[in-house]
Amino acid sequence: RAPLLPLLLLAAVALAAVSGTEVAYNDRALVIDGERRIVISGSIHYPRSTPEMWPDLIRKAKEGGLDAIETYVFWNGHEPRRREYNFEGSYDIVRFFKEIQDAGMYAILRIGPYICGEWNYGGLPAWLREISGMQFRMHNHPFEREMETFTTLIVDKLKEAKMFAGQGGPIILSQFDDKEVNVTLDTGATHVVPAWSVSILPDCKTVAYNSAKIKTQTSVMVKRPEVETVRESLAWSWMPVNLQPFMTDEKGNFRKNELLEQIATSGDQSDYLWYRTSFEHKEEATYKLHVNTTGHELYAFVNGKLVGKQHSPNGGFVFQMETPVKLHSGKNYISLLSATIGLKNYGALFEMMPAGIVGGPVKLVDTVTNTTAYDLSNSSWSYKAGLAGEYRETHLDKADDRSQWSGGLNGTIPVHRPFTWYKATFEAPAGEEPVVADLLGLGKGVVWVNGNNLGRYWPSYEAGGDPTRVNLHTVAVGAACAEAAEVGDQVALACSHGRTISSV
Ligand SMILES: *[C@@H]1O[C@H](CO)[C@@H](O)[C@H](O)[C@H]1NC(C)=O
Ligand SMILES: *[C@@H]1O[C@H](CO)[C@@H](O)[C@H](O)[C@H]1NC(C)=O
Ligand SMILES: *[C@@H]1O[C@H](CO)[C@@H](O)[C@H](O)[C@H]1NC(C)=O
Ligand SMILES: *[C@@H]1O[C@H](CO)[C@@H](O)[C@H](O)[C@H]1NC(C)=O
Ligand SMILES: *[C@@H]1O[C@H](CO)[C@@H](O)[C@H](O)[C@H]1NC(C)=O
Repeated sequence: RAPLLPLLLLAAVALAAVSGTEVAYNDRALVIDGERRIVISGSIHYPRSTPEMWPDLIRKAKEGGLDAIETYVFWNGHEPRRREYNFEGSYDIVRFFKEIQDAGMYAILRIGPYICGEWNYGGLPAWLREISGMQFRMHNHPFEREMETFTTLIVDKLKEAKMFAGQGGPIILSQFDDKEVNVTLDTGATHVVPAWSVSILPDCKTVAYNSAKIKTQTSVMVKRPEVETVRESLAWSWMPVNLQPFMTDEKGNFRKNELLEQIATSGDQSDYLWYRTSFEHKEEATYKLHVNTTGHELYAFVNGKLVGKQHSPNGGFVFQMETPVKLHSGKNYISLLSATIGLKNYGALFEMMPAGIVGGPVKLVDTVTNTTAYDLSNSSWSYKAGLAGEYRETHLDKADDRSQWSGGLNGTIPVHRPFTWYKATFEAPAGEEPVVADLLGLGKGVVWVNGNNLGRYWPSYEAGGDPTRVNLHTVAVGAACAEAAEVGDQVALACSHGRTISSV
């Protein structure tokens, strides 16, 4: 991980109210209802689980000794298109905070709007790029205006639901992302807070504690081998993704005599963007198709046939594909499918990083003379974001689609075949422990359980894989412990709740 900038707690905004909790602070501590407190919090990111799972996750956090649950707010999930909002299902943020309240815990609202969080694009919506003059995470009017609109909406929503401590709700702290590395103290001195950490300076000079200097062992999860029976019983069926429509006559979303950047064009609504052009040729001929792209993966089709696929080299994104193609006499179609493996979520100017075939060139090169025969970069290109199954919501296993699946109990399943849907039903493994979908054997793709998106996986760039190696099993804590604290120049180890240290 690149060293990111520390986040500062900027606001402890909860005033006394009759039924509310009074949150204040003095030069030493956070003060809740008159009592100095060190609040131990843990993260639960609400969109990463379903609302049905929240009470149990929160209960376990409480049993584990936490006082507060903190969460980021996921802007690109809540506002996928400008001024079109989503607060349903896993994005029901009010319900999430109510669950925290019901569990008798405090909450910390980390409103972002930049969140890093191993989350696509650091939580920033891709449509921000379409706004002229936009510079992400900087002092500029377009960014500040969008940020203000969104954060005000979130605060108002939570206020209306009486979720702030002063209103009797659980939220004791709110946090905005701040790009400062260095903190100027009241004494005028500058203090550098190491990345990803919190410092305590009791006298405003000397660091008594910094969380980056302490490494504590956390829980180590182990598989429960005794219940690993699911893999053998999974009967997979499969369905090819229908790529044909857009390779020939299907209308795209729009046309442009230009090769456009992918993230801005698709609005990050899909990992996939089609670029298609057609081309009259008066006889059969062989050329080399040359495409210059900024990644991350490229599939090239001529007249509906795959002629090449390639992905970004390690550590870089720009690459050139060169592949022989055969044209027939008459109208020929060149379709280029560009795919991302998720967007960067951190690093300086990460949002400026392009994807797709920005400007090309795309050309047909004479195989004998190695010179450009046709430059197609400014041809009329037709665009379409997403694959057919994404529009059809194949992941919802709709009745209309059922007849299109093959395989099942007695069928054979193609493996290492890109652009394939696989599905199976399973009995949840026995026991109360968390269930893990182990996607061993798969390349790049997306997984859903009961219609809920578990996320994108990409152990490799290659689409496809072998689903027969996929397993579902429960996991349990195998080893835990070690609370460490820096006391002067020593580190003290302890186990809480009367437990003893068995080994170090
Ligand atoms: C932060 O402080 C360090 C050490 O005093 C200094 O080297 C650095 O230039 C400062 N950075 C900024 C952005 O002020
Ligand atoms: C490929 O595209 C990138 C990004 O637009 C550009 O910077 C680069 O010059 C191009 N390279 C070639 C060989 O055309
Ligand atoms: C064809 O020309 C390009 C530059 O235009 C060069 O990079 C490439 O190596 C050449 N290929 C052959 C086979 O000569
Ligand atoms: C395509 O259009 C751009 C912008 O107008 C121009 O700079 C470029 O030279 C054109 N390329 C070709 C091959 O015509
Ligand atoms: C597959 O199983 C079904 C249900 O048992 C049966 O009706 C069908 O004939 C079988 N198909 C093949 C190809 O064995």
